[in-house]
Amino acid sequence: MTATETESPEATEAVEALTPEAERRRHLLGKLADVDAEHAKAVAGGGEKYVARHHERGKLLPRERIELLIDEGSAFLELSPLAGWGTDFTVGASVVCGIGVVEGVECMITANDPTVKGGASNPWTLKKIFRASQIAEENGLPTVSLVESAGADLPTQKEIFIPGGKLFRDLTRASARKQPTIALVFGSSTAGGAYVPGLSDYTVMVKERAQVFLAGPPLVKMATGEESDEETLGGAEMHARTSGLADYLAEDELDAIRIGRRIIARLNWRKASETAYVPAALATGSAGDMGVPGVVTYAEPEHDPETLLDLIPTDLKEPFDPREVIVRLVDGVSATNEVPFDEFKPLYGSSLVTGWARLHGRPIGILANAQGVLFSEEAQKATQFIQLANQKNTPLLFLHNTTGYMVGAEYEQGGIIRHGSAMINAVSNSKVPHISVLIGASYGAGNYGMNGRAYDPRFLFTWPNAKSAVMGPQQLAGVLSIVSRAAAEAKGKPYDEEADAGMRAMVESMIEEQSLPFVLSGMLYDDGVIDPRDTRTILGICLSVIDNAPFEGTDRFGVFR
Ligand code: COA
Repeated sequence: MTATETESPEATEAVEALTPEAERRRHLLGKLADVDAEHAKAVAGGGEKYVARHHERGKLLPRERIELLIDEGSAFLELSPLAGWGTDFTVGASVVCGIGVVEGVECMITANDPTVKGGASNPWTLKKIFRASQIAEENGLPTVSLVESAGADLPTQKEIFIPGGKLFRDLTRASARKQPTIALVFGSSTAGGAYVPGLSDYTVMVKERAQVFLAGPPLVKMATGEESDEETLGGAEMHARTSGLADYLAEDELDAIRIGRRIIARLNWRKASETAYVPAALATGSAGDMGVPGVVTYAEPEHDPETLLDLIPTDLKEPFDPREVIVRLVDGVSATNEVPFDEFKPLYGSSLVTGWARLHGRPIGILANAQGVLFSEEAQKATQFIQLANQKNTPLLFLHNTTGYMVGAEYEQGGIIRHGSAMINAVSNSKVPHISVLIGASYGAGNYGMNGRAYDPRFLFTWPNAKSAVMGPQQLAGVLSIVSRAAAEAKGKPYDEEADAGMRAMVESMIEEQSLPFVLSGMLYDDGVIDPRDTRTILGICLSVIDNAPFEGTDRFGVFR
C-alpha cells in the first residue's frame, strides 16, 4: 500500500471507530441512497430515447405537467412510485399518482407516462390507479387525470381487461359522490382510454394532439370498411365543435393546464374542516395571538427530525424507544399544545406506547411499539386506546416495530389470542382515520393489530430500514426445519443435516429479500418508501388531506371476547 492510499479520507474513516449515532446515520443514509436509485428509475420513465423523442415532439413529461398544474411552491405527495418494482415492467408502472394542491384544493392527480410503452396500462398500472382512486374516495378529493395512454398493455390484456373496468366505474361513482373528476387530454386516449374523458365531469383536449376514439383508423377499416383519419375520428377540434365530448379546446399543453386550474378554481371547494393551521413561526398579529376563531398555530418539534437518522439501530432486533421518534414527529410546545406528547397508561403494557399529541396543529392519537413483542397487556391497552380515539373523533397514527404477539404456554393460558383478537377487532371496526408508518419490523399478526395494509389505513408508508413478513427469516427457516425433521422421524428415516442447513440458508435469504421495502412497495403493499426525516411533513399533508371529508368515531365494535 502506498503512502497516499493510507492517507486517503476513506481509509482513515475505515479504521476510525464511528460513534453509534454516526454508524446508524451512515447505515440509514446508505439505505436512503438505495431508495433514491430506485426512485430515479421511475423518474427516468421509458429511458433517454423515449424521453428525448417525447420532448422533440414538443410535449411535456408527466412530472413536468404535474409541476405546472399544482400551485407554485406547493408540495406534491407522490404515491406508489415504486409500483411494479421487481417485475418485468418499468418501475413506476407507466403512471404517476399523487396528491397536489391546485388553486388551494387538494386533488388526486394521475398522469400517464407516454414514454413507457406509449403510456399503456399494465397490471401494476391498474393496481396503482385503483389505489389512487381509493384514496380519493376515502378522503373525498377531486381527481385530475392527465391523459396520454395507448390503453391496455396488449401483451398482458388478459390480466387487465376484466378488472380494468373498475377504473371507469370508479370515475363515475366519484362524480356521483360529488367528488369532481377532470380530464386533461394531451395525446392518444384510445379504446377503453376514451372512457376516461367520457366519464369525467370536465374534459379539456389539446388541439392537434389529443386523439380520443373507440377505434383508430385501422380498426375502423377492419370493422366496417370505412376509410377515415385520426382527426376526423377523434381530434380535439372535432370533439370540441361536433361530438361535444370536449368541454374546452386548449391551444397547447400549457393552455390545457391553465384551463384545468380555472376549472378547479370554480369548484367552490369546501373542506369538511375549515380550521386554518398555521406554523407559529409564520403566524403574525392576531392569528399568532390565538385570538382568531378557527385559527390554530403550531410549533415545530422539540427535537430536529434530522436526528432521527442517529436513532434507528442498524440491526432491527435492537429495540429503540419510540418516544424518541414521536418527539421528532409531533408539534412542540405552543399555546394549544402544553406538552408535545401526553402518554396514556404509561405504567401498563410498557412495550406499546400510547398517547395524544398534535401534528401540524391537528390532534392525533399514537400507538407505537417499544420492545417489539405485544403481550396481553399491550393488546388490552391498544383496544381501550382505539375506543377512546373513536369516542373523541381523533385520527390515529400507528408506528410499527413489532415481532408480533407473544407465544408460549404462559401467554396462551393468559388469553393472548383473546386479547390480540380484541385489538384486531378494535382496529378493524374503528371509524376514525388511521395512518400507519412501518418504522422497523412488522411481523406476524402484529402487522394486523397495528393496522397493516389489509386493515385499510388511509395511508401507509415505510421507512427504508423496515421489514415485513409472516415472521423473521431465521424463525421461518427454523420452523420449516423442525417440521421436516419431525416428518422424517415419524417415517423412521434419517434426517439429512447437510440438506437441512442448505434449505435453511436458502429460505432465510429468500424471506429476507421478500421482506424488504422495495419488494413490498413494488407490490403496492404501502404508499411509498419515505425518508424518515420527511415523515412529519408527509403526515402533516395526510392529516390535511383527511380533513377534506367528514369523519365520525364509532362505539359499535364486534363482540369483544
Ligand atoms: N400495449 C403494449 N405496448 C404498446 C402499446 C400497447 N397498447 N401501444 C404502444 N406500445 C409500445 C410500442 O410497441 C412501442 O414499443 P417499442 O418501442 O418497444 O417498439 C412503444 O410502446 C412506443 O410506441 P410508439 O407507437 O412508437 O409510440 P408513439 O408515441 O409514436 O404512439 C400510440 C403512441 C399510443 C399512438 C401508438 O403506440 C398506438 O396507437 N398504440 C396502440 C393503441 C391501441 O390501439 N390500444 C388499444 C388499447 S385497448
